[in-house]
Parts: sequence; structure tokens; C-alpha cells
Amino acid sequence: MQTKPDQQSVCVVTGVAGFVGSHLADRLLELGCTVIGVDNFFSGKPDNLATLNPHPNFSLRRQSVTEPGLLTRIQQQHPRLATVFHLAAIVSVPYSLDHPQECHTVNQAATASLLEESRRLGLDTFVFAGSAAEYGAVERMPLVESYATERTERLSPYGESKFAASRAVAGARAKPRGVALRCFNIFGPRQDPSSPYSGVISRFIRMATAGDALTVFGDGLQTRDFIYVADVVEAYLAAAGLNGSRAAPAAGIYNIGSGARLAVLDLARVIQGLTGQPKSISFYPERAGDVRHSQADISAFVGATGWRPVVSLDRGLQRTIEWMRAQAQPG
Ligand code: UD1
Repeated sequence: MQTKPDQQSVCVVTGVAGFVGSHLADRLLELGCTVIGVDNFFSGKPDNLATLNPHPNFSLRRQSVTEPGLLTRIQQQHPRLATVFHLAAIVSVPYSLDHPQECHTVNQAATASLLEESRRLGLDTFVFAGSAAEYGAVERMPLVESYATERTERLSPYGESKFAASRAVAGARAKPRGVALRCFNIFGPRQDPSSPYSGVISRFIRMATAGDALTVFGDGLQTRDFIYVADVVEAYLAAAGLNGSRAAPAAGIYNIGSGARLAVLDLARVIQGLTGQPKSISFYPERAGDVRHSQADISAFVGATGWRPVVSLDRGLQRTIEWMRAQAQPG
């Protein structure tokens, strides 16, 4: 059934100070929803809350999703709580390799607890941030949701924890209806470029705008499915039936990507062209654990909701470049 987003829609967004969570919360407020954000600032950034904090329909809880009773306390204050967007996670693959137990606790066990709490409270919808890492070493492209199975060789505790959690979420058929969005390579403003493990687009734009050579790991012919953050946000709304168009999808796991793939080397050249900084490219050894190709088959979610990605790669890159240039301005 279609839900009209208005003041009646009360949503929790975990990981609200993160790259995607903050954009999602911005959009929910714009639609007239009340948003209770949750973040422990392990990887989230206070700066990402700049537009959210002043909003009268936004409130923040600084705490970890591993603390029991979180949703119960929120529902006591907001009895009309209906939807949980659960994005909080250990988001770094390398960190998960060094801290497998912590990754399990945060990404898998906490998701199971929040899902169970949502069931006890009789909430309507639970939308979860899954990951293309759930496909691990699967080589058949494009990737269809059913290709990730228990037997799939996943390359990190991160991929394993996201797979188990997505499975659990998709098993919730009603009250709550569980939807896991298996997101591919998301990019856009607010993605942190500063770590060696940051997304390749944010790194390349930072290097290009600084006038540095771009660092390509391996031969650069590995491909990824890049999707702009605003398109991902619309997918979250569609998953919750809050986008005002079609019916919400049935419980399940759905790929969210552009449906296309681009070689890292081609990406480097596009970014050099857009920034007008055609500096050289430096090649480094292939990164351990990298998958060769990644491309989503998005027909399941498109068929279920009518959602489609609408921001072209060039447009998304331009917006990200503008944002990064504005960040670099003093003051
Ligand atoms: C990304 C996500 C990961 C998610 C996975 C799903 C990031 C940081 N990681 O991993 O959380 O689970 O998708 O598939 O978004 N590269 C370079 N030069 C650089 C940086 C990267 O050549 O300076 C290459 C990498 O070696 C890789 C590709 O670009 O082949 C993409 O790297 P990255 O953006 O880190 O994403 P994934 O590894 O695909």
C-alpha cells in the first residue's frame, strides 16, 4: 500500500552522520517526515549534520546501535514510529579484516536485535543497507540477487556480516516488512576522501583537484558499478513506500546500482577531463582482496517499484567535484 509522506511518517535513520545516512535524512525531512537520527560517530562526521541539526523535525541520539532497547525508547517518545532505515555499520572492508568480531557484533548481531525489536514493537518497515560485497568472488556479470548464497566465497568479514544480515532482514515478511538494499559503489558529496580505503571516486577527485597524479591499483581494467548518492536515497524511499509513486516492494533483497560498469582507468580519464587537470596516472600493485568486476542487475527493484537511477555519471561527478572544491575553500 502506498504511504503519503507527511508529518505522520516517523522514521529512524541509524548511521545518520554518515555519507548516505545524512543525505537520506535530509530528503526525509524535505518530504515532511519526522526523523530520529542515531549515530555514535565512529565513522560518521558531525559536519554531515549541518543541515539536519537546525530542522525542527530532526532529533539526534548519540549512541551505538549495539545498545539494547534503542527502538523501544524512541517509540516511547514517538508512538507513531513506523519505519527504520538501518545504515549504521562498520563500513571499512580492511577494518573488518582486522576486527572480525567487532564487525560481526555491529553489522550482524545488532541488525538481528534491531529487527527483533521492530517485530516486538509492530513497526511497519525495516530497510537495511546491504552491500555488493555480499557477492564476494562471484564472477558472473551482471550480478543477480540469487547469485549470493551461503556457499559464496566472500572476501571479508564485512561481506559475510552484510550477507547474513540481509538474509535475516529479507526474512521479515510483515510487521516489519524487511527490505535489504544491496548497494554497489556509491559516490557523491560528503564521501570522505581522506583515507587510503576511501571510495575511488572521492580519492580521484581529491587528487585531480589538488593537481596530483591519480593512483590506479593494478592495470585499471577492473570495473565497478558506480551510483550517485541521490539515486540511492530515492531507492531507500521507494523501499519504504515513501516516494509517493508506486507500491512499496515485497520483503526481500534488491540490488541498487546503475546497472552499468566502468573500468577504473576510464573513470580516471573522465575525472581528469571534468576537472581540467589532465595530470598523469601512477600505477601501483593490485590491492589485495579486490574483485575484478562488479555490475548490478537492477531489474528486480526496477520491476517492484518503478525506481530508476536518473543522475548520469558525468552529472554526479560534476556535483561531487563542485562539493569538493567548495570544501577546499578556506573559511
Ligand atoms: C566498495 C566499498 C565497499 C563495498 C564494496 C561493494 C568503498 C570505499 N568501498 O569497495 O565498502 O562493500 O564496494 O562492492 O566504497 N582504486 C584505485 N585507486 C584508488 C582507490 C581505488 O585504483 O586510489 C581501485 C580499487 O583497487 C578497486 C576500485 O578502484 O579496484 C574500487 O575501489 P573502492 O572505491 O575502494 O571500492 P571497492 O573496493 O569496490
